Amino acid sequence: MAKIVFDGVRKTFGEFTALDGIDLEIRSGEFLVVVGPSGCGKSTLLDLLGGLSAPTAGRILLDGKEVSGPGLDRGIVFQQYALLPWRTAQGNVEFGLEATGVPRRQRAARAKEFLDLVGLTGFEDRHPHQLSGGMRQRVAIARSLAYDPDVLLMDEPFAALDAQTRESLQDELRRIWQSTGKTVVFITHGIEEAVYLGQRVAVMTSRPGRVKEVVPVSFGDRDGLLGEALRSSPEFARYRHEIWNLLHDEVARAQQLEKEAAAV
Ligand SMILES: Nc1ncnc2c1ncn2[C@@H]1O[C@H](COP(=O)(O)OP(=O)(O)OP(=O)(O)O)[C@@H](O)[C@H]1O
Ligand SMILES: [Mg+2]
Repeated sequence: MAKIVFDGVRKTFGEFTALDGIDLEIRSGEFLVVVGPSGCGKSTLLDLLGGLSAPTAGRILLDGKEVSGPGLDRGIVFQQYALLPWRTAQGNVEFGLEATGVPRRQRAARAKEFLDLVGLTGFEDRHPHQLSGGMRQRVAIARSLAYDPDVLLMDEPFAALDAQTRESLQDELRRIWQSTGKTVVFITHGIEEAVYLGQRVAVMTSRPGRVKEVVPVSFGDRDGLLGEALRSSPEFARYRHEIWNLLHDEVARAQQLEKEAAAV
């Protein structure tokens, strides 16, 4: 059985159709990346799966049950650092555990363990304003992992970071995903990021957002490779080119639609 099913999902905001006819199945333990032009409905899709809003038509199933609201089975990492500014790194990770009823003493130990997992040992007592952007995003990732959700939903979590920090967090995320077996739905603008992280890459159309094509990404013997060894391989370039082409057509179509609308 698929872990997640989008079944004929549509989402409108008044007259405006943001998503239409979304049919998508995601396997348990899969790393699925969603790419698409700005405004095509990627965040809307993730909000629906997170249970933060409801579809206008169709339904979303998680483990065979219809999603009807947020739940601790899904951890969400937003693009902007959604940390509590008055709490330390440790306190922010513990916050996620309070809701799950983990006893106080275990909370502290668990928070330390997950801060260590994202490479933040020694920074437990810092407040968000005393951390770099990359460190804040690591705290957000640790927070969403600590209460052990089955599914990790990530909305452009690395977009605001410099290239080096982004690449090291990508490697960390791959390592965490491989060691925990979580199902990950990851949204990005970055084609390289999509090819590097995704087992499949769903490319969306704009206006209304639909799934245009789902590209399976496999590097055969190179699947275990990290960093430059993978990024510089010919297969990597081929996937990047394929997804670039799919996206490029969409961006061109969106611009054409805009021109036509302006001419009316
Ligand atoms: N609450 C809302 N009310 C009205 N329109 C909305 C609302 N939320 C999103 N939209 C519209 O739905 C469309 C999709 O928005 P969404 O944020 O999902 O796009 P996106 O693909 O995440 O874009 P980006 O890549 O820029 O983050 C946009 O045209 C947006 O203006
Ligand atoms: Mg968005």
